[in-house]
Amino acid sequence: MNEIPRGTIEQQTFFEAVGGEATFRRLVHHFYLGVESDPLLRPMYPEGDLGPAEERLALFLMQYWGGPRTYSENRGHPRLRMRHTPFQVDRAAHDAWLTHMRAAVDELDLSPVHERQLWDYLVYAAASMVNTAE
Ligand code: HEM
Repeated sequence: MNEIPRGTIEQQTFFEAVGGEATFRRLVHHFYLGVESDPLLRPMYPEGDLGPAEERLALFLMQYWGGPRTYSENRGHPRLRMRHTPFQVDRAAHDAWLTHMRAAVDELDLSPVHERQLWDYLVYAAASMVNTAE
């Protein structure tokens, strides 16, 4: 059996393991198609065009999972909770956000391990963004 010399196997990031930029772009694009037709979420997005918001979320998620750091180069430290304070993220908004994310994650057809890892993070992150009492 051939031995693999030490140091030749690099640890793969989650970003790479799930298919890199194309996968995250697909996820976020699908998510925003849902947002576009959502009566609660759509009015929360200040810009008429959802394209720039789609770009920010895609870049953020790519960076979070070990991809390029373009998000922070453009936007600085994420401080996401603070960036959401202008918006009323209540239980209903949280649920709607996760509903569209769930559909978008399903559509990626990831391996069960990666799917679980991504989903657990999104559920946790969405809960941490809620900024109303109920
Ligand atoms: C829980 C329900 C959520 C609602 C209703 C919500 C809504 C919004 C809205 C209205 C914006 C402004 C659009 C923009 O300027 O980009 C925004 C921005 C953003 N959201 Fe959320 N969001 C939620 C959860 C999350 C979660 C869980 C994440 C991360 C995993 C996230 C990541 C972002 C990012 C990265 C931006 C752009 C920040 C910036 O650079 O300005 N959001 N969100």
